[in-house]
Amino acid sequence: MFKSSELLEKINAHIAGLQFTRRPEGLYEPVTYVLSLGGKRIRPVLMLLAYNLYKEDVETIFNQATGIEVYHNYTLLHDDLMDKADRRRGKPTVHKVWNENTAILSGDAMLVLAYRYMAEGCPADLLKPVMDLFGQTALEICEGQQFDMEFENRNDVSEAEYLEMIRLKTSVLLAASLKLGALLGGALQEDADRLYDYGVNMGLAFQLKDDLLDVYGDPKVFGKNIGGDILCNKKTYMLIQALERASDDQRKELERWLAADDFVPAEKIATVTHLYDEIGIKDLCEQKICEYTRLAEESLLQVGVAEERKHELQALLEGLVHRES
Ligand code: IPE
Ligand code: IPE
Ligand code: MG
Ligand code: MG
Ligand code: MG
Repeated sequence: MFKSSELLEKINAHIAGLQFTRRPEGLYEPVTYVLSLGGKRIRPVLMLLAYNLYKEDVETIFNQATGIEVYHNYTLLHDDLMDKADRRRGKPTVHKVWNENTAILSGDAMLVLAYRYMAEGCPADLLKPVMDLFGQTALEICEGQQFDMEFENRNDVSEAEYLEMIRLKTSVLLAASLKLGALLGGALQEDADRLYDYGVNMGLAFQLKDDLLDVYGDPKVFGKNIGGDILCNKKTYMLIQALERASDDQRKELERWLAADDFVPAEKIATVTHLYDEIGIKDLCEQKICEYTRLAEESLLQVGVAEERKHELQALLEGLVHRES
């Protein structure tokens, strides 16, 4: 069995060796750019860890692991456009280095490439289940992203709606990475499904933490601009709770900032963050993260492999919950 750090090294080396040399260069340069910035590579590592619960020859699924990471990076190109985000992984986003049309089209190309990698070398008997799950997941992510944008214009989004939105935009990809790894490794359907549940709960904790870092992170470590979600009126768990728990005065002030369309960005970020501090939102969000981390642990317990084989997955979960980037 490999450690997740070893799997990370392997998949990093594999992705670093890929070459996108077709023309026009303007289409492929952003692909090389975004992939060269790395990121945590959680999804391919999850896929390899799940496969490695059952089989040792992890290199057999490097194409599928590459497919999931290229797919994830495609979503980031389009997400940064939709979220008007200027920085990612400590560098300017693709639409800033090039332009918006490039981010759209290079993103499209990456989506197609991701499908190719996913199918490449996939055993014939697994091709349909693998592509079905991948396709279903990709569609759900579009649904989640659409909800995310629609919620920007609503102030009555419930906690349940938020959780369903982040399940769709974020959790299903972590869950599918695990399930695909398990299926490719020859796991029983029940095990693959329990790993999927583990991924869903891990993903909810993961997105809650991402939302928390968007307000309270250190921009140098986080690699993204702080306060982007506040500027877009993203209906995060923190904002939903703040609206619910605010005093009348606090709610009036929050609503005034949510309705404002001419403001100094730094001022809006500072005021909303201050309101969060007054209401105690950070603690509340951290409790919620703990809740989903525990649910993830329970799902992992139900996976039918020896406990000692699950240590790397357990450690990865803890690492994600305590991450600063
Ligand atoms: C960013 O994903 C998008 C979210 C789902 C929050 P990651 O935090 O995994 O980004 P990288 O790949 O490590 O940069
Ligand atoms: C990410 O949500 C979801 C997808 C990219 C599909 P965010 O919009 O919070 O991700 P970041 O913060 O930009 O990485
Ligand atoms: Mg974003
Ligand atoms: Mg987004
Ligand atoms: Mg975010």
